[in-house]
Amino acid sequence: MRLEQVLNKNNLNRDDLIYLMGLKDEDKLEKLYNRAYEIKSETVGQKVYFRGLIEFSNRCIKNCNYCGIRHDNNKVNRYTMNEEEILESANWVYENNYGSIVLQSGERNDEEYIEFVNKLVKKIKELSNGELGITLSLGEQTKETYQKWFDLGAHRYLLRIETSNEELYKSIHPNDHDFQSRKECIAELREIGYQVGTGVMIGLPGQTREDLVDDILFFKDESIDMIGMGPYVIHEDTPLVQEVTDQAELRTRNFTWSLKMVAILRLAMPDINIAATTALQALNPIGRELALQAGANILMPIVTHPNYREDYQLYENKPCIDEKPSDCKDCLANRVKNVGDEIIYGAWGDSPHYFKRIKGRESDLGSQIDIDNAAGK
Ligand code: 5AD
Ligand code: SF4
Repeated sequence: MRLEQVLNKNNLNRDDLIYLMGLKDEDKLEKLYNRAYEIKSETVGQKVYFRGLIEFSNRCIKNCNYCGIRHDNNKVNRYTMNEEEILESANWVYENNYGSIVLQSGERNDEEYIEFVNKLVKKIKELSNGELGITLSLGEQTKETYQKWFDLGAHRYLLRIETSNEELYKSIHPNDHDFQSRKECIAELREIGYQVGTGVMIGLPGQTREDLVDDILFFKDESIDMIGMGPYVIHEDTPLVQEVTDQAELRTRNFTWSLKMVAILRLAMPDINIAATTALQALNPIGRELALQAGANILMPIVTHPNYREDYQLYENKPCIDEKPSDCKDCLANRVKNVGDEIIYGAWGDSPHYFKRIKGRESDLGSQIDIDNAAGK
């Protein structure tokens, strides 16, 4: 039977991936998810790592057609958390032993902002005695800025390609966005020595299953270490919503496509980190658990102070808006337990893929490597 053959193959080609993306039958999908979970167990383990997510500012100079906090959306109440508030959140993450933090904001590239991030990275390293792993998710920046933040102690960077189809990329962004520049940023991050994360939105208007398969091939080509991808979810105050004809159908389809993508990605790139993203839970109350069961191994609990959560809505129906960080901690612990995975507290949880990729470069990356983890502990 073709399904069994494909599920047990080592090097899946484009046709195999298209075949898997086309599966519809519940029984077959179940087999796909189970196989992905099996591979996850054999490679990264039945383990989940936390990254506490601080959404520290919703100011953004860009105007992505899909995003609720795009610059021109004047319904948004704009905020930037101050240094003290951010460090307080970082400290909470440290004390609760999450192991890593993610700093995310809308995109800015003025001097004041860059300096602010410099200070944050430095101080978060200090307050945690160098123990908290720092991931940045701050958009397109110059190579010098990326290098500066790396030198100060950030060791992972998330920059989604959004879609690897250049035409589609153009259709969901204004003219001043450039696909090639985005790709170059990813290359620069890799050259500097970051663990590189990217990802796509799944189910954009005009996106096909073949496009999504090509996204997976793009991740492979770029030797990506970690992926955060999730369903495209509409936001009423954005231009892209005009392209959506049937919102209910979009939600159902995008959720299924997203789960399939997680599972297929685990088959195609067994040793990377894959996030069970919050957007999945916007479409299904147990979306993140299902993603863990389909091969994901990373959760990014939001630790942003509840005062600000409501103003950081990239898409509608964002879950956990009224929760405090401590509520999320217990809730996620239960969710992970239900899946049968174990949360590994207090570790960076870098992907095995990263250690393979940097073999030979360890000495010049120095403190950016978690030695315990590198030793396979
Ligand atoms: N639906 C899903 N994901 C979105 N993002 C932005 N807007 C949406 C949306 N409407 C994602 C983008 C971006 C990340 C920070 O959030 O992929 O890179
Ligand atoms: Fe700004 Fe990012 Fe939203 Fe684009 S996706 S508008 S860069 S916050």
